[in-house]
Amino acid sequence: MNSLANKNVLLGVTGGIAAYKSAEIVRHLKKSGSSVRVVMTESAKEFITPLTLQALSGNRVSSELLDAEAEAAMGHIELAKWADGILIAPTTANSLARLASGRADDLLSSITLAFDGPISLAPAMNQAMWSDKRTQENLDSLISKGFKVCGPGSGEQACGDIGLGRMLEPIEILELFSSSFTQGAMSGKNVLITAGPTQEPIDPVRFITNKSSGKMGYSLAEAAIESGARVTLISGPVNLETPPNCHKVSVETAKEMHEAVMHHIKGKDVYIGTAAVSDYSPVEVKNSKIKKDGSRSPLNLKLKENHDILKSVSGLEERPYVVGFAAETDGLIENAENKLKNKGLDLIVANDVSNEEIGFESDENEVTLITKTDQQLIPRQSKKKISKKIVEFISRRINEQNN
Ligand code: C5P
Repeated sequence: MNSLANKNVLLGVTGGIAAYKSAEIVRHLKKSGSSVRVVMTESAKEFITPLTLQALSGNRVSSELLDAEAEAAMGHIELAKWADGILIAPTTANSLARLASGRADDLLSSITLAFDGPISLAPAMNQAMWSDKRTQENLDSLISKGFKVCGPGSGEQACGDIGLGRMLEPIEILELFSSSFTQGAMSGKNVLITAGPTQEPIDPVRFITNKSSGKMGYSLAEAAIESGARVTLISGPVNLETPPNCHKVSVETAKEMHEAVMHHIKGKDVYIGTAAVSDYSPVEVKNSKIKKDGSRSPLNLKLKENHDILKSVSGLEERPYVVGFAAETDGLIENAENKLKNKGLDLIVANDVSNEEIGFESDENEVTLITKTDQQLIPRQSKKKISKKIVEFISRRINEQNN
């Protein structure tokens, strides 16, 4: 946690039982060499006294927006200017909602609006409140705006329930918070990734899909986030957990994926299309289940070609660095090189899906990175390690382009 040394850290404390752990957070921050100022909400004072946090931080604790004396010493704008980073621990469900809606009706929310550096949140709430759709929507909206979320953890809660919602331990929170100050190779970059299969409906109970598990796209999203990027992941139906701090948009059909990509592409530095987008979809979707007629004559399904999402992105006037995937069963390099050219890509990642050990559903892969000028084999290893190498390759390229 060396990156916390000599940093001005503003610790926001909101009103939940986990506020008792804030004292330990202040102690760790001080030990790591940070200067700490604490801002409490009114309800936080019901759980821990300002005096405790003042004694540990060595600074007066602020909590009121309309306090003439405090504003004269260091007002909300000065506090926002003073801080290098803000950590709000615990962050209650109510605070999440208020931050997501951009309210400025108390000192802490006003400071976060006036602040333009990294803000980390350590949620703490009852498991049912955490899993409520509104909380999850608020969380997603904050992540899409660059807020970092540390936790929550799972286990027994103060109310007796068991589940997700416990605030992480202070040391775990600070490990995550300190990474806000380390510059990864993708720091400040906005990345859009597609992952998984699409489902093209035939009738209410049937659809056309493929074997894509989404593992490659999800692990690329994780690797890009770990190297400092802000990631939006547009995903078809998969059975995977969304990586922490990832803004996920769920879609089903190729048409929905195309629309979602076009909606989110503005301002992105990198686009990575790992999704196995269905090339065709039924011309007509039947309103009721198709019945067999017993005649044993063939059933004809008329298909229309879907938009090529990669081509749409690479054809944009203000285009990001565009990366495609070529999953091939034969002629791997030749087919991938053709796709690089025909789809106007900066990079294509070629992988041989005829080998089941490194194919769609596997945890391992072996890929060749192909650009207009060079080729690089990444030998067989976990999709996680491969993803790191692909992200490193992309970040080198975009940093070279910008220099
Ligand atoms: O042409 P092919 O489907 O093999 O190309 C694979 C690459 O193109 C992948 O990166 C995939 O995400 C992308 N693709 C797309 N839109 C389609 C079909 C494929 O973006 N309709």
